[in-house]
Amino acid sequence: MSKLLVVGSISTDFVVETKREPKVGGTIFGETFETHFGGKGANQAVAAARLGAEVEMFGAVGSDVFGERLLDNLKKNAVGSNHVQIIKDAPSGSAVITVMNGDNMIIYVAGANDAYTPDCLFQNQQQIDMLKQSDMVLVQNELPQATIEKLIDQSYQNRIPVLYNPAPARKLTEELMKFITFLTPNETEFQEMFPGQSISNMLEKYSNKLIVTLGQNGAQFHDGDKIVTVPAIEIEHVVDTTGAGDTFNGAFAVAYMEGQTLEECVRFANKAAAVSIQKSGAQNGMPSIEDIPNLCNR
Ligand code: RIB
Repeated sequence: MSKLLVVGSISTDFVVETKREPKVGGTIFGETFETHFGGKGANQAVAAARLGAEVEMFGAVGSDVFGERLLDNLKKNAVGSNHVQIIKDAPSGSAVITVMNGDNMIIYVAGANDAYTPDCLFQNQQQIDMLKQSDMVLVQNELPQATIEKLIDQSYQNRIPVLYNPAPARKLTEELMKFITFLTPNETEFQEMFPGQSISNMLEKYSNKLIVTLGQNGAQFHDGDKIVTVPAIEIEHVVDTTGAGDTFNGAFAVAYMEGQTLEECVRFANKAAAVSIQKSGAQNGMPSIEDIPNLCNR
């Protein structure tokens, strides 16, 4: 079984569904309110575990009731959580999410996730061994930047491939870019990371490394020769796109660790993401391998 190390955020999502946005100073009636398990790190860990990877998660929760539930949820999803830290006097991470016509807007409050500083990483030999024994490292941007940089550096030193999902977007140095195996921004994140640059130019510059996800338009990368567009799977009734990007990244990691080509990885990730948006909540719709259509074509 492939081993994936996910380093990232673990949060609770507070989700309101609405038909329209309130005006400043105004009040409207919402449709529904739900709480879900979330955090880009935890979501990606769960996505990969459901698809059959052996997943270990590094991160932090607060010493509150949410933290207990978040850890319990990781366990229920077969994600290793023994090295998740419990931070005293910090609230667990949370996200306030508004869902409108299937699309979402997210306000993320880091809480304990912010306390996962570089010192928390690789504190003992066991954690260093876990990195060395991993087939891939998966990381996002809901942790302090210094932690992410240390992780990418250590992974590179140990020749462990890194899938970096830069969400939410932050600027990236050329040096860090060299250490990353794959970078997977969506279109909005791409624009924030590479202001004024066209997607096609950057895909060519970072061929076989940069993969831009384009929602309904699929995903693109450059194979060293040409731009490859892998179309999205059309879904008639989209319920909630929250976590679709996380499902894409978790599934991509699984396919990559199994030795699939880049195009096959993106195709498989697109399929998993398409399945995931048919249920509400980031993790509820994440598929297991049997839920992915046309498996033989993956
Ligand atoms: O990518 C979706 C996730 O981002 C949500 O689950 C929420 O926690 C936010 O941080």
